[in-house]
Amino acid sequence: MSFEVVPCADLEEFGQAVFAIGQYFGMEPTEERMERFAKNLPIERMHAARENGAIVGGAGAFPFELTVPGALVPTAGVTVVGTFPTHRRRGVLRAMMRTQLDDVHARGEPLALLWASEDTIYGRFGYGMASQCTEVSIPRQHSAFARPLEHEGTVRLVDADEALDLFPRVWNAVRRKTPGMLGRTRNWWEFRILFEAPGAGEGAGPKRFVVLERDGRPEGYAIYRHKPKWTDGISDSEVQVVEAVALDGRPTAEIWRYLLDIDWSARTTASLLPVDHSLWWLLATPRNMRPRVGDGLWVRLVDVGEALSARRYGADGTLVFDVVDEFCPWNEGRWRLSGGRAKRTTAAPQLRLDVNALGCAYLGGFTFSGLVRGGRVEELRRGAAARADAMFAAERAPWCPEIF
Ligand SMILES: CC(C)(COP(=O)(O)OP(=O)(O)OC[C@H]1O[C@@H](n2cnc3c(N)ncnc32)[C@H](O)[C@@H]1OP(=O)(O)O)[C@@H](O)C(=O)NCCC(=O)NCCS
Repeated sequence: MSFEVVPCADLEEFGQAVFAIGQYFGMEPTEERMERFAKNLPIERMHAARENGAIVGGAGAFPFELTVPGALVPTAGVTVVGTFPTHRRRGVLRAMMRTQLDDVHARGEPLALLWASEDTIYGRFGYGMASQCTEVSIPRQHSAFARPLEHEGTVRLVDADEALDLFPRVWNAVRRKTPGMLGRTRNWWEFRILFEAPGAGEGAGPKRFVVLERDGRPEGYAIYRHKPKWTDGISDSEVQVVEAVALDGRPTAEIWRYLLDIDWSARTTASLLPVDHSLWWLLATPRNMRPRVGDGLWVRLVDVGEALSARRYGADGTLVFDVVDEFCPWNEGRWRLSGGRAKRTTAAPQLRLDVNALGCAYLGGFTFSGLVRGGRVEELRRGAAARADAMFAAERAPWCPEIF
């Protein structure tokens, strides 16, 4: 069956298209909620799938600026993808992915990015797991640091208005050197991060905001919620860290020390930490974080040549890829990466791979050698994977601190 997939024309269509995923979240697309959402997702970047005129699915794409190793790249942030339960497994998603990726390509955004609700869905459309995130739950009694911290600077509670002034400064400093982080507009800060819609928080309290300042400069911040609970007269409360971002070194230590020391809490939880977070080195017993690692960002090279040319490389070298891309055939074939530029070539290929494997390695979160071992990349010339590893290596693990 074929479905018509077109950009939404107005807020009403936008609401109906978002209602597809709303089915699964138990969410009603009220006008107020949709107006708020449309502050960050332009209406025409929300596609609706129709059958006989009725909307049966929706898929959106935020206009993001993504940090990749050494550069900032315009990127489509795929979001609110859903098919109405009445129309599942009839090709609605496939039709939406087709139109969406064609549009992203036509707009000249070389990358698309998403968080996957299930890891089985997006590989067929060329997305590869590109980062991992760690969920932790740190018991109060195991929150000591390995080395004593002599406090520097002050931590101050601020309201959302002051946070709107201070937090972006920290975010921008950190995100510029962290692959996977996104630029945030003022609307993003206001409507997604700081000023909550009524009913947010899933049973925990409202967001609290603190800033860490040294010499009057903001160098870190945290957003967290309290989830109070008492069992047998003893506090079993939780501090839920929504987002803690700080400059490297002392500011990161200071902001986490603050979070771990909040009284009454039995544990401090966080779910979207990078795999190389400093807590591994700060805590005396990091094993007690009970870390659980899961997949994070999924990356799709929409334009292989542009995407490979957009990032910087950790080592000089030349590679010839043979890319398989059934869903976006304009990427198929051989690409020579040399001097940081990727061009079409007829040279003998050294690495053969599906475009989704290139997505896995693109941010530096996974190595080509690992992908060869896992059967996702074919090494046609000995040493090519090791050379690719050196070139694609990044200083830090990719990190996206929020699900969009
Ligand atoms: C996931 C979802 C959008 C799929 O929509 P759909 O219209 O049923 O998908 P399609 O019929 O177009 O299927 C396209 C392909 O994906 C596969 N597929 C779809 N959903 C899948 C799933 N949950 N797990 C594994 N494969 C899936 C289909 O088998 C089909 O494979 P093929 O074309 O290679 O044979 C739909 O189930 C849904 O709305 N789920 C709840 C919300 C959600 O998870 N959204 C994704 C947010 S990231």
